Amino acid sequence: MSGAAGAGIRLVLLGAPGVGKGTQADMIAARLGLPHISTGELLRAAIREGSALGRRVKATVERGELVPDALIGEVIEERLSRKDAERGFVLDGFPRTVAQADLLDRFLAGRGQPLDRVILIEVPEPVIIERLAGRRSCGRCGATYHVSHNPPKVEGICDRCGAALQQRPDDAEAVIAERLRAYRDQTAPLVSRYRSAGRLVPIDGQGRPEEVLGRIAAAVPGLRA
Ligand code: AP5
Repeated sequence: MSGAAGAGIRLVLLGAPGVGKGTQADMIAARLGLPHISTGELLRAAIREGSALGRRVKATVERGELVPDALIGEVIEERLSRKDAERGFVLDGFPRTVAQADLLDRFLAGRGQPLDRVILIEVPEPVIIERLAGRRSCGRCGATYHVSHNPPKVEGICDRCGAALQQRPDDAEAVIAERLRAYRDQTAPLVSRYRSAGRLVPIDGQGRPEEVLGRIAAAVPGLRA
């Protein structure tokens, strides 16, 4: 297992929609100098750009359903093959199905690099719904805010790039319900897989983002909160 501060480490952040995977992955990646790889953000960027991939996945993402394994497999293999991911990565939103976990295992076995930790962030459903309903995202750079827990300096404007903030189409109430269903049916089975493999670290995702990070840091070598 990777260990020393600054050494490469391969982490997966697992958990239901809205538990704070993206928020924590950003902080962890910045502290460890590793790329934060979010499959949701890769897909949303493709949708914003209107690329062939974006046009293919837009309706599926906006309905809150998972895009096909083969398609997301191509996206993630291309991303993990880039130079910046050689030392390690913080994966957010992948894997999400058993087939995706198999693909990740094969990819890492091919490199002789095991997964170090799978951080399972857990938050009760009413908190998830409150977080998603209050989330605002930048339509240009994808930065994430919350109207009360993490507001931008100027209401409705992204601190990072100055573009207008929006509500994600998949944060509509009916779509949140579909995303939670997809998590329960397709992603939750990964919890026992990673527990049996001795990789799973369950983390209470309630409290301020810095408090949650402190709990994660206690389980990840080289990570300081
Ligand atoms: P994706 O973007 O991965 O969405 P998700 O898993 O539903 O997760 P979210 O981004 O909604 O939440 P999060 O856990 O990152 O929470 P966040 O930090 O933003 O995927 C979107 C879609 O893409 C999927 O539905 C699917 O269609 C497709 N897709 C993606 N990956 C796929 C895959 N592998 N296979 C197939 N399809 C795929 O926090 C939420 C809010 O809470 C924010 O406002 C934040 O500011 C706030 N917050 C965070 N932490 C705290 C805290 N500690 N206290 C208070 N507020 C907090």
